Amino acid sequence: MCGWPRSRSPCSSSGGSRRQVADHREGAHHDAHPGTHPDAHYADERLARVYDAFEGPRDDLDLYMSIAQAVGATSVLDVGCGTGAFALFAQRAGMAAAGIDPAQAMLDVARHKPGGEFVDWFCADSLHPPPVSADFATMTGNVAQVFLTDDAWAATLNALAQRLVPGGHLVFETRRPEARAWEAWARAEPVEHHVPGIGRVRETRTDVVAHPPLVSFAQVYAFPHGEELRSESTLRFRGRDENRAALGAAGFDVLEIRDAPDRPGAEDVYVCQKVIR
Ligand SMILES: C[S@@+](CC[C@H](N)C(=O)[O-])C[C@H]1O[C@@H](n2cnc3c(N)ncnc32)[C@H](O)[C@@H]1O
Repeated sequence: MCGWPRSRSPCSSSGGSRRQVADHREGAHHDAHPGTHPDAHYADERLARVYDAFEGPRDDLDLYMSIAQAVGATSVLDVGCGTGAFALFAQRAGMAAAGIDPAQAMLDVARHKPGGEFVDWFCADSLHPPPVSADFATMTGNVAQVFLTDDAWAATLNALAQRLVPGGHLVFETRRPEARAWEAWARAEPVEHHVPGIGRVRETRTDVVAHPPLVSFAQVYAFPHGEELRSESTLRFRGRDENRAALGAAGFDVLEIRDAPDRPGAEDVYVCQKVIR
């Protein structure tokens, strides 16, 4: 979701795959694409440890799960997996799960969660995904917006198309530019959460600068004992025409664009299928 708190409810699941964890710390790749390096929000281990508390319950993931189950997904590649919320949900639901993220600090949180040993975690960015094959790929939490350039977005979609089996599905969400979410960000009050093992942490959003399609902002986290950490981010807002064109060029059919149930009118969830050639 790239930075902002959202309302969610707990995920529940059952079963469990027996895929063993892999530790792929060496796999992080960075290149010249701007916006493909993780922000401090994800890369700093002190901020990665507070991420889940500020995300809240993850009822946004129920839609992804319902689509995965409806299409009979058996293997999930969660791109920009962060602290592993969807990869772990898929694993608990009996699917083989792999999560990739360039932020090692987020992966460290993910792998220590219950079931983390049954997910394959890869420290890698979406432009250079590991050689894993899946029938269902996801980018939850508005990961799609971290790709600032057309080239980075195209490279990500092309890489995912290569990792998906023919007929495999890609599901991701992105904020609708028309909803102008940044206007509410500029007015937002600080938010506080109790983080187990850390204490009360306050997040203040500031310095929102909108030059659509790019919007930059900062988040300042105040920790107990006076420590403050600042993370700066820029997101790209893409509309439906732009996304349809990029997806088509990468070899995806857009089957459906759904309203995000937790943010009606504000976010689109794209349900795509790799074209069978
Ligand atoms: C808002 S978080 C979403 C995390 C997770 N998907 C969720 O729903 O909680 C955005 C994630 O995208 C990751 N990210 C940033 N640049 C990336 C890239 N080039 N490829 C893959 N993931 C990236 C960040 O490290 C971060 O974990």
